[in-house]
Amino acid sequence: KPVFILNGPNLNLLGKREPEIYGSETLADVEASCVRLAEELGLTVRFHQSNAEFQIIDWIHEAREEACGLIINPAAFTHTSIAILDALKACAFPIFEVHISNIHKREAFRHHSYVSTCADGIVAGFGTQGYEMALRRMATSVDAETI
Ligand code: DQA
Repeated sequence: KPVFILNGPNLNLLGKREPEIYGSETLADVEASCVRLAEELGLTVRFHQSNAEFQIIDWIHEAREEACGLIINPAAFTHTSIAILDALKACAFPIFEVHISNIHKREAFRHHSYVSTCADGIVAGFGTQGYEMALRRMATSVDAETI
């Protein structure tokens, strides 16, 4: 079973959007390095991005049936979405939350994450490398029988 890697709003603009905060790598670059690392780790990944909350919820529901683990950068929905939190609560596999920037060093409205209340691990402030860090941890966290 694949590890789902889900990305929230505006991350399609990664590389162009506020590069002083988010860096110059694009989301396609992040996907390519995750696919490469997954192969090394004996995992497969399914990588998605959407600007729509319902789409992310639908992918989490799909993951319930089809994934062995989930890595999510909910972007701005991190701070607002009880609906995404509830969808994640319905999942039995490991969930890791990723933020490219250190949300705790930024504006106060970014300090609270609904998703963190159910995530098994959080990576923030390590740039786009955070995705690979989460994936490495996933390789040791997933139940071998569910891969
Ligand atoms: C982000 C941090 C969020 O506060 C912000 O809304 C994003 C990206 C990050 O990866 O650092 O869009 O999740």
